[in-house]
Amino acid sequence: MKDLVAFSISALALAESVIATTQAGSTVTTPLGSFELTKGAACACSKLSRAYSGIISPKSANYTAQAVNAYWDVRADLSPACIFLPSTADEISKALEIFQSCDAQFAVRGGGHMNYPGSNNIDGGVLMALEKFVKVKVNAESVEVGPGLTWYDVYEALEPYGRAAIGGRLKTIGVPGLSLIGGFHYFNNKYGYAMDNVLSYDVVLGNGTQVMANKTSHPDLFWALKGGANNYGIVTKFTLKTYDIPKVSTTIQVFNESGIPEFLTAVCNIVKLDDEDPIAAGMVATVQYNATTKVASASLLGVQEGISKPPSQFANFSDIPATTRINNVTTMKQWASSLDTPKQMFRVMFSHKTMKPDQDVLISIYKAWKDAVDEIADVEGLYPTFVTNVAPASAARVALTNGVGNVWGLEAEPYILWQFSTGWALAQDDLRIEAWSRQLIERLNAINVEKGLASDFIYMGDAGEWQDPFAGFPGENVARMRKIKSSYDPLGVFSRLNWGGFKLSV
Ligand SMILES: Cc1cc2nc3c(=O)[nH]c(=O)nc-3n(C[C@H](O)[C@H](O)[C@H](O)COP(=O)(O)OP(=O)(O)OC[C@H]3O[C@@H](n4cnc5c(N)ncnc54)[C@H](O)[C@@H]3O)c2cc1C
Ligand SMILES: *[C@@H]1O[C@H](CO)[C@@H](O)[C@H](O)[C@H]1NC(C)=O
Ligand SMILES: *[C@@H]1O[C@H](CO)[C@@H](O)[C@H](O)[C@H]1NC(C)=O
Ligand SMILES: *[C@@H]1O[C@H](CO)[C@@H](O)[C@H](O)[C@H]1NC(C)=O
Ligand SMILES: *[C@@H]1O[C@H](CO)[C@@H](O)[C@H](O)[C@H]1NC(C)=O
Ligand SMILES: *[C@@H]1O[C@H](CO)[C@@H](O)[C@H](O)[C@H]1NC(C)=O
Ligand SMILES: *[C@@H]1O[C@H](CO)[C@@H](O)[C@H](O)[C@H]1NC(C)=O
Ligand SMILES: *[C@@H]1O[C@H](CO)[C@@H](O)[C@H](O)[C@H]1NC(C)=O
Repeated sequence: MKDLVAFSISALALAESVIATTQAGSTVTTPLGSFELTKGAACACSKLSRAYSGIISPKSANYTAQAVNAYWDVRADLSPACIFLPSTADEISKALEIFQSCDAQFAVRGGGHMNYPGSNNIDGGVLMALEKFVKVKVNAESVEVGPGLTWYDVYEALEPYGRAAIGGRLKTIGVPGLSLIGGFHYFNNKYGYAMDNVLSYDVVLGNGTQVMANKTSHPDLFWALKGGANNYGIVTKFTLKTYDIPKVSTTIQVFNESGIPEFLTAVCNIVKLDDEDPIAAGMVATVQYNATTKVASASLLGVQEGISKPPSQFANFSDIPATTRINNVTTMKQWASSLDTPKQMFRVMFSHKTMKPDQDVLISIYKAWKDAVDEIADVEGLYPTFVTNVAPASAARVALTNGVGNVWGLEAEPYILWQFSTGWALAQDDLRIEAWSRQLIERLNAINVEKGLASDFIYMGDAGEWQDPFAGFPGENVARMRKIKSSYDPLGVFSRLNWGGFKLSV
């Protein structure tokens, strides 16, 4: 009996010791490499281990699932000192108090789709992943969702009620990241961006205090969270507006190289539509180019509210000879279910700029991109995509007229966001791809600047880590964001300790 007790005690001590007795300065080995444990991380990991069970250390069986497999871009795989999966806002409050008292660096992960290292993961610090926040509550005209959910989860929960929310266009994008940076959805042209449809945020501030931010409670923070990303606090619940949209009319169209100029022309025409009472409709519009086979193609994934088949707003695309064209009437859930974006497919660099719609220039940009891809055809696993996103005047008008606004402050003008999304296989090509992508996009944007077509607007969801989205927001909005930041995060917890992502300089 005595032996048994002694044994249990030592077993317990051993289990705790995995993290608790790991000293600052010792070398920690992870599946991706090794690092020297800092004082802050040693302190935070041991305090978390004492407060909660289930803290994942680099030795835990679940470490790789959390530090690697949960990320979309292979570049985002890093080696945290320990991983905490909180289940309640109180646990997040407590963790933030620990990070502060230990001066420990940390990262926060929602859906794990932000694609660059440090935005949602951390080497040698604490990773807090929100996957346990999966509550959904459907109300008559809103839905309350946890930051551990994907947009597919939200569409699935709303389907039985015939309601739709304004979120991500593909299946597994996370609710929190997309809502906090803006949110391009098919129906922006009528209902605004995802951020414009958040009615209330439950937030844990840097000092652990929990607040609700909405039109009547902390309205300044409410505004700042509409596009202000991870600069203000950790959101533990989003309350989103929903709409009566039981059915959607969809179209999948693929065009060969001969159709690409007409395809890009149709993109320029659809963004210019500005009906007083718009039909909600939008798309994912991409051009793919295979530098080995020299084959280029374009694809349209279009969705429109209602049941008119084929969807009327895509008529200009439907006039182009296509190699594939599938029209359907379905639900948002059913549509999203087939649009998975598998994690860990490749390393990816984004680069993006914004312009006024001009078909001739857009076509010349596409051609210059395709020629430039040929110069890097030898890169292993090359996966180049030219992406366009549309920001019609009517989408911006929602924030201009809803009495709340957002940090973007976009004027009611049509814009096209054009992006190079470049995938590749090997870390040794990281610097080459970044240099290629940056130089190309800056050179082509300079032509737009000269022609008076360029806008400084940069969307965080399409940008490379080297870009500065805040420089493209109106100066007075950035000044207001800084003021709000200094009152809600006076200690700089979300700049100094949680430093990854697009950070507002203070
Ligand atoms: C394949 C793909 C498709 C995409 N499609 C779209 C699209 O259709 N529309 C669109 O607008 N964008 C799209 N994006 C961009 C996407 O919106 C961003 O990558 C977004 O950050 C993803 O959110 P997440 O929760 O998955 O990200 P995460 O990487 O988990 O988080 C993004 C950032 O937000 C922070 N964060 C996460 N949760 C919280 C929280 N609860 N509180 C505070 N901060 C938090 C993280 O720390 C991180 O800095 C796409 C991206 C990819 C890779
Ligand atoms: C580890 O993963 C297993 C299987 O998914 C799960 O049952 C267990 O709860 C996880 N442990 C922790 C600490 O998260
Ligand atoms: C706004 O916050 C207040 C205070 O917490 C809360 O009582 C109210 O229900 C919230 N409003 C919405 C729309 O969530
Ligand atoms: C189709 O293109 C024409 C210009 O060729 C434009 O006037 C029209 O608005 C476009 N229609 C749609 C639905 O995009
Ligand atoms: C492109 O597709 C169209 C429509 O199917 C076809 O008429 C045309 O010949 C194709 N062009 C090439 C170069 O394959
Ligand atoms: C068309 O929609 C129906 C109803 O949701 C669905 O069952 C079917 O799989 C869809 N077909 C295609 C090709 O997407
Ligand atoms: C390009 O084509 C080659 C040869 O068919 C194939 O192996 C490769 O996967 C393709 N690349 C892309 C990005 O589709
Ligand atoms: C936490 O920060 C908020 C915002 O700065 C402040 O209002 C609140 O008083 C702080 N709470 C504590 C306990 O310091």
